[in-house]
Amino acid sequence: MNAHTVALREDHVELLDQRLLPGEVRYLRLETGEEVAGAIEAMAVRGAPAIGVTAAMGVAIELERAPDRDLGTSLERVCERLARTRPTAVNLVWALERMRRSLLPRIAALEPPTEIRSKARALALEIQAEDIAICRELGDVGAELLPEHARVLTHCNAGALATAGYGTALGVIRSAMTRGRIKQVLACETRPFLQGARLTAWELVQERIPVTLITDSMAGSLMRRGEIDAVVVGADRIAANGDVANKIGTYTHAVVARHHGIPFYVAAPLSTVDLGTPTGDWIPIEYRDPEEVVTFAGQRIAPPGVEALHPAFDVTPADLVTAIITEGGVLRPPFGPALARCKAREPASGGGRSDR
Ligand code: MRU
Repeated sequence: MNAHTVALREDHVELLDQRLLPGEVRYLRLETGEEVAGAIEAMAVRGAPAIGVTAAMGVAIELERAPDRDLGTSLERVCERLARTRPTAVNLVWALERMRRSLLPRIAALEPPTEIRSKARALALEIQAEDIAICRELGDVGAELLPEHARVLTHCNAGALATAGYGTALGVIRSAMTRGRIKQVLACETRPFLQGARLTAWELVQERIPVTLITDSMAGSLMRRGEIDAVVVGADRIAANGDVANKIGTYTHAVVARHHGIPFYVAAPLSTVDLGTPTGDWIPIEYRDPEEVVTFAGQRIAPPGVEALHPAFDVTPADLVTAIITEGGVLRPPFGPALARCKAREPASGGGRSDR
């Protein structure tokens, strides 16, 4: 991809404004935690891992500006503000918690403010670098699941734009492409925000991966006609039992895929797994402005006065998921014990390494 999602500069966060894609590549200059929070809320950046990385950078930038004596309160305040921006993607609170866990003890121990600030910066960059490495790892693992000449359906955008780079579902597709396994990617447009039409298509065209855009409602018929070999999607939160929250419309694909015996894969880093959420019923689902439903590309398409609803995510029950592809390997049902084992080994959860 000819653009980076986000970068931490000396005194600001440089953020690709995804709302303008594919028409224009423009970067926002965000100088405060509040500006970063606003950009996440407004969907200038989106995708669970990308939101987490951007929020961590928002913390680092806020601490650069905070007076020495206020580092503790500034840290708490900015984490609390950023955590409220988007409720479903758990990578956000995962990254913020990681920043807090590492920085608060240093602040309490009265370490020099310059060292605390440089640790914040280093940890945000580490979260970013790790995310790229993890996506490559799970991409390679997941590619092995796809058959030769695979025709793969994906929903929303779980690509480089949704992560620090490379992508989760699109990471699997990228890795499979290098192995010569991809015949065609069917990208669902993903109404109403059109992440598939605007972002997935943009990424894949640039990568020269054969992509065909379809409307969300075409997927079922293509499955019935035997034109799809596998579904690969990302996730915003995976509950302890393996239920998966992802972009609205994912559940429908999973149901139809099961009906037709088509494998349904979820590709996600372990930072998306939330063992504190027992099942999908507990996952908070973000409701966005219904304006996004009654308009299309800025044009009003529905009559004034009509009611509209916009749940941005749905939950796919674990029993419709064929496998969860993580950096810890390919997990098969029953997902509960497999997820618990992998999370226990995850470095950022304390399994083997600490951020201190
Ligand atoms: O509302 P969005 O665009 O943030 O939703 C994004 C998705 O649903 C992605 O599929 C998910 O975050 C996985 S990204 C690797």
